[in-house]
Amino acid sequence: MSALHDLPGIETLCIHGGHTPDPNKAHLTPLYASSTYTFDSTEQGIDVFTGKEPGYIYGRFGNPTIEEAERKIALMEAYGLKDENGEALQLYAILHASGMAALTTMLLSNLKAGDKVITHPSLYGGTQEMLEKIFPGLGIQHLILDMRDEAAVSHVLETDKSIRMMYLETPANPTLQCVNLKSLSALAKKHGLVVCADNTFSTPLLQQPFAYDVDFVMHSTTKFLNGHGTAVGGVLVGRDAKRMDTDVKKMHRLLGGNSNSFEAFLLNNGMKTLPLRMERHCSNAMQVATFLEQHQAVSRVNYPGLPSHPDHALAAAQMKAFGSVISIELAGGFDAAVAFMNKLKVCTNAVSLGTCDTLVSHPASTTHYGVSREQRIAAGISDGLIRISIGLETVADLIADFEQALKN
Ligand SMILES: Cc1ncc(COP(=O)(O)O)c(C=O)c1O
Repeated sequence: MSALHDLPGIETLCIHGGHTPDPNKAHLTPLYASSTYTFDSTEQGIDVFTGKEPGYIYGRFGNPTIEEAERKIALMEAYGLKDENGEALQLYAILHASGMAALTTMLLSNLKAGDKVITHPSLYGGTQEMLEKIFPGLGIQHLILDMRDEAAVSHVLETDKSIRMMYLETPANPTLQCVNLKSLSALAKKHGLVVCADNTFSTPLLQQPFAYDVDFVMHSTTKFLNGHGTAVGGVLVGRDAKRMDTDVKKMHRLLGGNSNSFEAFLLNNGMKTLPLRMERHCSNAMQVATFLEQHQAVSRVNYPGLPSHPDHALAAAQMKAFGSVISIELAGGFDAAVAFMNKLKVCTNAVSLGTCDTLVSHPASTTHYGVSREQRIAAGISDGLIRISIGLETVADLIADFEQALKN
C-alpha cells in the first residue's frame, strides 16, 4: 500500500493493507492454484530455497494469496503501536489451516517436555481439550487458575519454575470472562514466560494484545476476520520476526497445517469490511444484551458491555468496544434453553461465530462437549448456557425473534 499518511485510517488499511500489485494486473490477488513453483535454473532454485533470493517454492510453504492475508493481519494487529525504539511495530503472521493448527504451531514452537502452561478457566473447548488430552502425552502439563486473582498467579509463578507459558483468551469463549492483558503480561514477563493471547472474539480492531507486550496472538480466522462463514482458517502472529521467520515457520511447514489459496482469498475479501462489520456487530449486541437482561425469562446475561458484567471496567479499559458474542442462561434451565433455541426463526442454530447472520449454540453439547462436566461447571459453562453470536441483521428483527422464542 502506498500510504498518503504515515498511518492510514484503519478502514483503508483493512482494504489495501498487505496487497501487492499482481503481475498480470488483476485487481484482486488471484487464487494461486498451484502446488509448486518453477525455478529458472538449479542455481536459482538453490538461492530461493536457502533464502538468498525471495520467491515461492511449494504450496505448503505459502503463496501470494496467503501472504496477502498474512501481511494484512500483521498490519492490523500492529496498527498504531510502537516498538521499544519508538518505531512502528513490525509483526509477522503465518496463516494456518485452522485456529487449532495455529495454536499447535505456537505451543510446539515454544514448549518442551517438562514445561507447563498457565491459563484460566473458560477457554474455547478445543484449546482446553488440546491442553488436557494431547499435550500431557508429550510431557507438557497445564495449570488452570482464576487469573483475575493476580496475587494467586504471582504466588504460583514464584513457586513453580517449570511454568514457561501464559495463555490468555479474553473475552473467553463462551462465558465472556475477561482477564487483564496488561498486568498479567507484565507478571509473566517478570518470570520470563512466553505470553500468547487468543484474540478471536475481539479482532485487532477492538483489542490489540501487542500493546501489552505479549509475544504471540492467535485467531481463528474462521470467525470475524473472514466474517461470512465461508472458510476455516487460523493465524499466528508473532512479535519476534526473526523467530517467526525461522523456527516457528519451520514448525508450521513441518506440521503441515498450512492454509490454501481459496480460503486465503475468501479471508482477504472478508477482512476488507471488518471495520464496518464490527461496528454493527457491537451495536446490535449491546442492544440485544440490554433487551435480554431486562427479560424475566432470562436469569443471566454475560456480555462485557453491560455495566452488570463483573469484568465490565476491565473490558472498557482494554477493548475499544465489546464485541458480538453474548451468553445467557434462562430461568427454566436446560429444558427452557432447548425450547428457546428450537423456537428461533431469524437466528440460526449452529456452532461457530462472527458471521453476518446470528448464530445460536449450546456449548455444553457442542463446542465444549469434550470438556468434562465438572470442569465446564467450574468454568461457568452450565448445562443451560446458550451462546449467541449477534450478526448484522436489523436489530429489531433479532429482538423480535428472541422475544417470541422466550414466550411460554
Ligand atoms: C476463541 C476460539 N479460539 C480458537 C478456536 C479454534 O479455531 P478453529 O475452529 O478455526 O480451529 C475457536 C473455534 O471456535 C474459538 O472460538
